[in-house]
Amino acid sequence: MSTIALQEVSRTFRRADGGPLLVLDRVSFTVREGEFLCLLGPSGSGKSITLNLIAGLLPPSGGEILLDGRPLRQTPLRYGYVFQQPRLFPWRTVEENLRFALRAETGRWVQGEEDRIQAVRDLVNLAEYRHYSPHQISGGMQHRVAVARAYCREPALLLMDEPFSSLDEITARHLRAELVQTWMKNRVTVLFVTHDITEAAYLADRVLLYTPKPTRVAREIPVGLPRPRRYGSAELFEVERVILEAFEETRVQHRGEKEEWPSGP
Ligand SMILES: Nc1ncnc2c1ncn2[C@@H]1O[C@H](COP(=O)(O)OP(=O)(O)OP(=O)(O)O)[C@@H](O)[C@H]1O
Ligand SMILES: [Mg+2]
Repeated sequence: MSTIALQEVSRTFRRADGGPLLVLDRVSFTVREGEFLCLLGPSGSGKSITLNLIAGLLPPSGGEILLDGRPLRQTPLRYGYVFQQPRLFPWRTVEENLRFALRAETGRWVQGEEDRIQAVRDLVNLAEYRHYSPHQISGGMQHRVAVARAYCREPALLLMDEPFSSLDEITARHLRAELVQTWMKNRVTVLFVTHDITEAAYLADRVLLYTPKPTRVAREIPVGLPRPRRYGSAELFEVERVILEAFEETRVQHRGEKEEWPSGP
């Protein structure tokens, strides 16, 4: 089980001038077991901070994060984290990068290691590249390794921070389709941050929309389309339109707060 609930979670930082910067302002939402949730919001609204709070890399300034009803602090969460950049070890091969991730917890050989590496490698079609170094494979392939690495520890939750945003659209589409296929097999709970409305409509069971900071949850938009979804289809376009409308409403309500908003479809 792995239901994550943020309850009135706030996070403040210190500005360069010493004053407080309230980024998250009593943010509450739930990531349900087996759900694919996309988090959309303007630049600087605290999307990456939200992932870091859930990963336990940062403490909240207020509120509580619950894992299956118990405080996250008391219940270690097995998560995989995919960053915007692949962040592979350049001196290790693809397979060694995966092995390193697998051993990260214990620092030692893990029982069933080879089988697990092979399973994630095959899951994302990396077998023939396993002895390559990161510099010998394309950017898209490096992202694929980063996704495989996140799967290594059989995570209960996958945190993904704009993992495909630096790729060309064709490669990004390919990797999104692959991600959906994999997710349909293992149904791991996913929290996926994106700037891209089409990407959110293509991937999500539900879209969570943030306001500019001080950030609150502006809207939750369920996406009821069956998978696999088709780019350019009337149904997908309709979902994009609904998300874009919600964006526009939020933008009007928060006019004056200087933030960058993503462009629409
Ligand atoms: N360590 C820190 N000290 C001070 N301010 C910080 C710190 N980390 C983040 N912030 C501020 O918190 C805000 C939210 O940052 P975050 O990286 O979560 O935004 P984001 O929504 O992920 O934006 P983007 O879409 O551009 O990636 C930003 O204004 C940032 O300047
Ligand atoms: Mg970010």
